[in-house]
Amino acid sequence: MIEPATKSEASVSQLRCIGCGRTALPDRFRCEHCRDLLEIVYPGWEENSVAGQDASSLKQLWRERRTSLDPADQSGVWRFREVLPAIAKDRVITIREGNTPVYELPHCARKAGIKHLLAKHQGMNPTGSFKDTGMTVAASFARQAGYRWVACASTGNTSASMAAYAARGGLHSLVLIPDGKISWGKLSQALDYGAITCQLKTDFDGCVRVLNEIVQRMPVYLLNSVNPYRVEGQKTAGFELLEQLGWEPPSHIIVPGGNLANSSAIGKALREMKQLGLVSRLPKISVIQAEGANPLVRTIRETGGKKLIPVHADTLATAIRIGNPASWKKALRVIQESGGTVEQVSEVEIALAKAEIGAEGIGCEPASAVTLAGLKKLVKQGFVGSDETVALILTGHLLKDSEFTLKFHRGDLFEGTPQSGESGALKPFQRAPIVLEPSVNAVIDLLQSAER
Ligand code: F0G
Repeated sequence: MIEPATKSEASVSQLRCIGCGRTALPDRFRCEHCRDLLEIVYPGWEENSVAGQDASSLKQLWRERRTSLDPADQSGVWRFREVLPAIAKDRVITIREGNTPVYELPHCARKAGIKHLLAKHQGMNPTGSFKDTGMTVAASFARQAGYRWVACASTGNTSASMAAYAARGGLHSLVLIPDGKISWGKLSQALDYGAITCQLKTDFDGCVRVLNEIVQRMPVYLLNSVNPYRVEGQKTAGFELLEQLGWEPPSHIIVPGGNLANSSAIGKALREMKQLGLVSRLPKISVIQAEGANPLVRTIRETGGKKLIPVHADTLATAIRIGNPASWKKALRVIQESGGTVEQVSEVEIALAKAEIGAEGIGCEPASAVTLAGLKKLVKQGFVGSDETVALILTGHLLKDSEFTLKFHRGDLFEGTPQSGESGALKPFQRAPIVLEPSVNAVIDLLQSAER
């Protein structure tokens, strides 16, 4: 039996509109007055302390919980519960998310032209993506609020995560995904975890439109990333990264951009850490998009961030194949506040960066590799200096999209696409499987030729 949250652990939270600042009811997603998105705020927080605990006692408490046997403490999200909305412990759905590793990437650093490159690998979460850190909080809230059904539109990872957390928490789940444009690995997860899964003959943005209507008509709780509880959970990756770096911020954090909630979450984490005295300065936070799914890049370059320019999205990095990102204003604020930037990368640049991360024995899915591809560009432009420490947020596991990886190594990833002429740069990284007779000599010959 898990104990209920004690009063001193719980932070009293409120939903507040990011546009007009009005407060909203706890299960809303948009402001009833101006329709802007909502975010969670903690009115009871004091400067440099939460619930009577100062920065150094919080740091110690969070570290100590790593040795606890309590499921909430074993979660890399809930061990930071002082900075999360209060959920009764017996309502918490956890699959021991978070606690993901930070790796050094020395070869990728050299390729990018910097000395020190780190990767926080959120693909090492239970369902293989960063979505789990947010889903544990939002699904737990749904359970606490008494919902029986949860739903999401997804490019794949959200649906896999939501289906898992719903199953663990005894909730029913409805998934809307674009027909044909998500990886089989992600689809198979949603099916196995028991979601009702609909492939709609539209893209992600079309799925969002349909779902927004459904949640207004049915008692179904929306678990897309406009859900402010998801952002709270996802922000713990920022707290954990800083903890892993001894609370010494890197100079720069680079995040892939799709619906733009994760960059918002990491930025919120840094803002709050500064407010609570956990860190003394803020890193720059930059967002990288695929050229074929670049609404934030266009919005900033063409309107100075005043008005969203939706695009018709197309990229092989299907996780970020999003043209009308819901959280663009939140991400824009993070970039502007932190002094970061936005950049876009080509399909070939994404494939190359993914192979380079793979060749370090780490691997990630294509959408995560935009971070390294973008970093290379930012170094070339002089926006990132060679002596800066940069942390990439890798969002999904290599095995999420094995079709992309196999096609890459076989050399047919870009066959019949406009990029087929540019893919020569990828050759040195391609390792197609070699079919041989079952002969010892044949394998030894191959080994010897590989040594030469
Ligand atoms: N990386 C991966 C692996 C993703 O799955 C996503 C988003 C992103 C990056 C972008 O994050 O949307 O917060 O900017 N995937 C969503 C999904 C949309 O449905 O799984 P974002």
